[in-house]
Amino acid sequence: MSVHLSRDRVTVPKVIARKGGDKLVVLTAYSMPMAQQLDEHCDILLVGDSLGMVVYGLPSTLAVTVDMMINHGAAVVRGAQHACVVVDMPFGSYQESPQQAYRNAARMLAETNAQAVKLEGGEEMAETIAFLTARGVPVMAHVGLKPQSANSMGGFKAQGRDEAAAEQILCDARAVQDAGAFSVVIEGVVEAVAARISEAISIPTIGIGASAVCDGQVLVTDDLVGMFGDFTPKFVKRYAELGSAMGDAARQYAAEVRAGTFPGPEHCFGVVTARK
Ligand code: KIV
Repeated sequence: MSVHLSRDRVTVPKVIARKGGDKLVVLTAYSMPMAQQLDEHCDILLVGDSLGMVVYGLPSTLAVTVDMMINHGAAVVRGAQHACVVVDMPFGSYQESPQQAYRNAARMLAETNAQAVKLEGGEEMAETIAFLTARGVPVMAHVGLKPQSANSMGGFKAQGRDEAAAEQILCDARAVQDAGAFSVVIEGVVEAVAARISEAISIPTIGIGASAVCDGQVLVTDDLVGMFGDFTPKFVKRYAELGSAMGDAARQYAAEVRAGTFPGPEHCFGVVTARK
C-alpha cells in the first residue's frame, strides 16, 4: 500500500522547510465544504478540537472525543487537495502514556488520511512526542496557553509575563523540537517570548495571539468570519460577518415563505401555465 500525495500537496517536510521563510498560513476547518473554501489559501488546515465549542456548542474542548475528531478530520481531508491536514488529539486521548497516544494517533491517521496530529504540551509531553515521531506519526506540538489545561492554568490568560514563565515556555518549545515535533503552535504568549522561541528553535512556530514574529499564524476560522459568539478575543481580526449574513438570508426566506412568494414558478417542477 502506498500513501498518495499529489505534487502540489503541502507535506510535513515542506512545512519544516518554511522555517524563517514565507509565512505559513493556517486555519481551522471542520467540514468538507469549509475545507474546499479554505484549501487553496492555506498551507495547513487544522482540524482543531475547538470544534467542540464552535461546532457543538460545548463550554470547552474537554468533552471532545477521538471519534468526533476522526469524523471531522475525514471530512476535511475529503475537501482538501493542497493543504497539509493536521488533526488535534483531544483531551484524555494521549496524556496517559506514549502507548495510549500511539494507539489513538495511529487510528486518527489511518481513519482520516490526515498527515499529522497535534497535541498540547511541552516538556511533560516530550517522551510521548518522541515515541510517536519514532514510529511514523508526525506531531505538531502546542505550547504557551493550552486550552485543554485551562482548568489548571486558571483560565485563558496571556502566558510568559514573568521571566520564570517565559523560561518555562522556551524550555517547552525546545523539548518538543528535540523530541521530533515538526512544528509548534505558540498560543497566547507575549511577543518577546514568541520572538525568543522563534529565534531559538529550528522548527516553524505558528502563532495564535503570539504576534507576527512567528513563522506562521493560525486562527479559528469561525472567529475570522464572524460565525462564533459575540466576544472577539484581542488576537482575532474579523474579516467577514457570515453569522449576520446567514441571519439576514434566513429572515428574507422566512418573510417570502410567509408571504407565499417563495417558491416562485422558476423554483417549481411542471408548473401549469395558463392556456390561451
Ligand atoms: O483547537 C484549535 O483550534 C487549536 C488552534 C486554535 C491552535 O488548537
